[in-house]
Amino acid sequence: MANLLEWSRAYSGRLTKDDKNISFAKTESLAKRLSNEVATGKLPFLSMGYRARLEQDMQLLLPRVKAFKDMLLLGIGGSALGCRAIQRAFAPSQDLPGHTGPSVWVADNVCAEQFEALLGRLQPKDTIVVCISKSGGTIETISQYFLVKDWLKAALGDDWKKQMLVITDLEKGYLREEATHFDLASMEVPDNLGGRYSALSAVGLLPAAFLGIDWSALLDGAAKVAAPLTQASPNLDQHPSFALAAWAHALMRRGYSQLIYFCYIPQWATYGPWFAQLWAESLGKEGQGSQPIAATGVTDQHSINQMFLDGQRDKGCLFLTSRHQPQGRSFGQDLPEKWSWLRGKKFGELLEAEALGTRMALCKSQVPLVHIDAEDCGERSAGAMMMLLEAATLFTGWLMEINPLDQPAVELGKRLANTKLGAKGYTQEEADLKTFLEVPRQEQPF
Ligand code: PA5
Repeated sequence: MANLLEWSRAYSGRLTKDDKNISFAKTESLAKRLSNEVATGKLPFLSMGYRARLEQDMQLLLPRVKAFKDMLLLGIGGSALGCRAIQRAFAPSQDLPGHTGPSVWVADNVCAEQFEALLGRLQPKDTIVVCISKSGGTIETISQYFLVKDWLKAALGDDWKKQMLVITDLEKGYLREEATHFDLASMEVPDNLGGRYSALSAVGLLPAAFLGIDWSALLDGAAKVAAPLTQASPNLDQHPSFALAAWAHALMRRGYSQLIYFCYIPQWATYGPWFAQLWAESLGKEGQGSQPIAATGVTDQHSINQMFLDGQRDKGCLFLTSRHQPQGRSFGQDLPEKWSWLRGKKFGELLEAEALGTRMALCKSQVPLVHIDAEDCGERSAGAMMMLLEAATLFTGWLMEINPLDQPAVELGKRLANTKLGAKGYTQEEADLKTFLEVPRQEQPF
């Protein structure tokens, strides 16, 4: 039993098996690069050298954190999406009626109304606030930090410090300065571990542990996939993540500009936005890349699937299922004649049949499709899938000859927003803003 990639329909449409050919020399040079970057600590998401320290920190901090009923998580992008995906996949009961156990609330936007609603319902005395920022200076997160700090202070006075924990760089950044200054509890985002590759560090795993999720199994699943890549002479050619990268790169070269992540493990649906961020921020560079589209089976069969099947032929698909989904309850034997073929069947059989139907329809529409078939929908399998996709993203970036670990283009909007609010030192941005705002508006009422 294992998690599987199924390739029989991967090279279809305009894509042929010849498209994936990567020369021996190229594969060898990437394998050397991998070895070198692992050895020099540039790829901690793969080598997971931070695990021992993480386990120690968890042991120390978890009892204190678990004393609270609610966790309010402040973060954005890679500092929020992995956590939310893990919560929805493995602690979905917090969002169901009558829940009484621990809950994690992720505040990852700048929406005064939602923020007020959250703070209005949470009780400061029952809430541990976890502020997550690798850089320690992201305005969306830091602004929430300031507001929540005041909210805690108003209720708890000086004890606010006991209910604020930060996850950030060990040495650098504003949040680290705050942690040191106020002696706040803290955990590290290891060096070189970029936001979107950090879900399997304290960033995603402290909230997971708080919710009682088996976070060690997530790490174990990931470690098993990463192991062949972190050994001294990695055999890149044989690794499924490299095969995925070769396929994804071939798709781009053949003009497939979109990549669907179609998730038929409904409880894992929130991995869609997690994957979309991983793929888009890593690979949207220098006019290249493919646009990720997160879709959920079966819901999106009644929505964007029409476009997948009969819109432009510009999409490849990662199609995710699990062989061992809980099957749920059975239909009664007394169903009306019109529906008799459902009698005695389990609800889960419907999901399986619909997944097969949609996969086949996509294949018939010549959508190049790789089927990711997870052994089950537990933490270990999820960790394995996360590592597979992270490694595949890295290697796709290397094949594209771009840097999959940075995100320079998104910085401009942040600098402009800071300038608009009066931040100093942005001379060029100030001038650009002025020019932009001088263009006469062309308004049309509706
Ligand atoms: O993947 C990334 O690096 C980004 O999406 C970051 O996670 C996001 O910008 C938040 O950054 P930080 O964790 O530094 O606050």
